[in-house]
Amino acid sequence: MPAMPRILAIESSCDETAAAVVEDRCHVLASVVASQDDVHARYGGVVPELASRRHVECIGPVVVEALERASVTLDGIDAVAVTRGPGLVGSLLVGVCAAKAIAWQRGLPLIAVNHLEGHVRSPFIENPGIGFPAIALVVSGGHTALYHCPREGEYRALARTRDDAAGEAFDKVAKLLGLGYPGGPAIDRLSEGANERAIAFPRATMKNQSLDFSFSGLKTAVRIRATADGLAHGRPTGGVPSPAVRDLVASFQRTVVETLVETTLRACRREGATTVLVAGGVACNRRLRRAFDETAAAEGLDVFIPSPRYTTDNAAMIGAAAFLHYERRDFAPLDVNADASWKLGVSGGPAAP
Ligand code: KG4
Ligand code: ZN
Repeated sequence: MPAMPRILAIESSCDETAAAVVEDRCHVLASVVASQDDVHARYGGVVPELASRRHVECIGPVVVEALERASVTLDGIDAVAVTRGPGLVGSLLVGVCAAKAIAWQRGLPLIAVNHLEGHVRSPFIENPGIGFPAIALVVSGGHTALYHCPREGEYRALARTRDDAAGEAFDKVAKLLGLGYPGGPAIDRLSEGANERAIAFPRATMKNQSLDFSFSGLKTAVRIRATADGLAHGRPTGGVPSPAVRDLVASFQRTVVETLVETTLRACRREGATTVLVAGGVACNRRLRRAFDETAAAEGLDVFIPSPRYTTDNAAMIGAAAFLHYERRDFAPLDVNADASWKLGVSGGPAAP
């Protein structure tokens, strides 16, 4: 193994085309992300076919830009890593095909990475020395899940959402109120300074000590309240949201944040973990970050939440996760296929490709 191995990583599972060069486990030499928000904004959500087509246009330039920004050529790369799943199959295939082509043409090992393992690994980019055992909360537009990580590279799935992901709930509530897409950043912004105790929304409770999440009941409660108060528009209004809208979204946000923090804490107590990792697009949320910081102080936990550029989808986290496979020489064959519903940690670790 080279003294300072370098991995070229590619991510295209949803609506971001991303490439990164990562050196020596977690050191990011370059991370390039081409967002497609402009493509999907008018639909209020990701349109899979449009996402795949934009990935095809962007993948080449994004990989070239990552190499240029890292000041390396493919001669200086030791392996190619790619998100194999879960995600939108058409989107995944663009990244998988590009990575296979580069690996084949350059005779480099190929590493298939689970997107969720990438998110769990993302806090290590800025804090490589994080200790175990840890509980990881992955909270994004497509996923809301808890994992127990007893050791580096080991994942045990503890909980998932039974319906909507938390980010999906943010996006749907924003769409209902005409606040634009993606909804999370808009709700985060509008909630600052609003009365988050204006409305007491119900919270889903699970039977049998389950740590699973559910956000669709909350979404419906917001819809009923917004309709009763004449606030539901269903399309961008362009105007300045009223105080009533701001109090509504702040109350919704508080409910989501409290649910995420309290459930994560229950998982920590149950598994005896003192380290918490929080990742995925919703981990950008300022209210969520504050809540975890306060909890950490009160409960004696070490909480790690990456900078926003590493919480939303990016390829640096795929490169950082790929190093764990590189060190075990866990390489994928060149006929590896995308797997849109690839699970993480259901049988003690990511399944072999
Ligand atoms: O991780 P990500 O980029 O893509 C997925 O894998 O889904 O997450 C995107 C999600 C979207 O639902 C978006 O609304 C949400 O993350 N998000 C936020 C914030 N920034 C992004 N949600 C709440 N507050 C934010 N500040
Ligand atoms: Zn993601």
